[in-house]
Amino acid sequence: MQSMDDASPTKWHLAHTTWFFETFILRTQSDYREFDSEFNFLFNSYYNSIGRQYPRSRRGLISRPGMQQVKDYRDHVDRELSKRLECDEFATEAAELLQVGINHEQQHQELMLTDAKHMLSCNPTWPTYRDDPFDSAATPSDANRWIEVPAGMYTIGHGGDGFAYDNESPRHSAHLHATSIATTLVTNGEYLEFIEDGGYKRPEFWLSMGWATAEQNDWNAPLYWHQRDGRWHQFTLAGLVPVEAAWPVTHVSYFEADAFARWAGKRLPTEFQWEAACQIIAKSSDTSLEQEPFADVLMQQNKCIHPTRSPDGLMGAAWQWTSSSYAGYPGYCPPAGAVGEYNGKFMCNQYVLRGGSVATSSNHIRDTYRNFFPPEARWQFTTIRLADD
Ligand code: AVJ
Ligand code: FE
Repeated sequence: MQSMDDASPTKWHLAHTTWFFETFILRTQSDYREFDSEFNFLFNSYYNSIGRQYPRSRRGLISRPGMQQVKDYRDHVDRELSKRLECDEFATEAAELLQVGINHEQQHQELMLTDAKHMLSCNPTWPTYRDDPFDSAATPSDANRWIEVPAGMYTIGHGGDGFAYDNESPRHSAHLHATSIATTLVTNGEYLEFIEDGGYKRPEFWLSMGWATAEQNDWNAPLYWHQRDGRWHQFTLAGLVPVEAAWPVTHVSYFEADAFARWAGKRLPTEFQWEAACQIIAKSSDTSLEQEPFADVLMQQNKCIHPTRSPDGLMGAAWQWTSSSYAGYPGYCPPAGAVGEYNGKFMCNQYVLRGGSVATSSNHIRDTYRNFFPPEARWQFTTIRLADD
């Protein structure tokens, strides 16, 4: 099923991630025989240099191939890849694209969950996908503290070994103005105060585009919030549950995050201030934990975070909107070839999110990772972390 233009059916995700390996690795091999020539049109997401694509908003109408055929496609590509990977020369040559392909599939694992959640949310019987609501994974949090990020030069972007996307480079220095960043995420309880204070009805908090978007779509609460018997409830992967004040607010747009911050007399951090805060935390936990006033707070916070999450306080609960427009770092060039369309061409009209969510692969949780979505997007696990100048 496909519940909206931005979401894809599970079957499409499964076929597309396989298409990625087939297209970028196997098709370059002269002895490779493709599984089905139609798939190049159906399961190409957005790579114009590969060819034309079936429209994204109509992916739910692809009733053929069926799931079994898609599974056969996956088996075929797995087999063809495994066979060739026994050859060292091929393995060395394919290593880089293979790593991109695996990270790509992991990104789609997150999208499969968020898309399935949206699809299930359209069913008024509130189906249950799993026992644990998931949204609660980062909760409850302790009282907020502020991490000071002093003014100065910081090194931003990926360095060292390990996989990183092209958009995390080049590593460069950036001058930052002083700020403080909250140790905790904005909670449902705090967000409820914003709602009850007329947050959605007071234009002074809103960007023009945000106000128009909220009005057109009748937004009066985060996505998945519903009033039942005079109480707010939220749809989760465990069905409809009463809104818990201590949980971090989830499924808010950039517009709502920005309006909330203005209402609170605060700001959203820039993506660079966010990354600098991570570096400061990492440095402090290298030395003595006791010496740092916020370290024990973070430790306690982490006990409540999903067991696979990173050991510092800023990552892993939900994606945090930053005030930074998604753009290339100084000197950034998309890689040559079709794979260069992966990230670079989206550097317009989107905002950067940092930190990773409960649905993100653990090995994607790092302080340089840049997620990005348009400012009206709400169906990812998105939240708010405040900054105070
Ligand atoms: C980084 C999550 C915005 O959803 O298009 C999937 C991930 N890139 N296939 C997206 C992605 C290529 C990307 N986001
Ligand atoms: Fe993709």
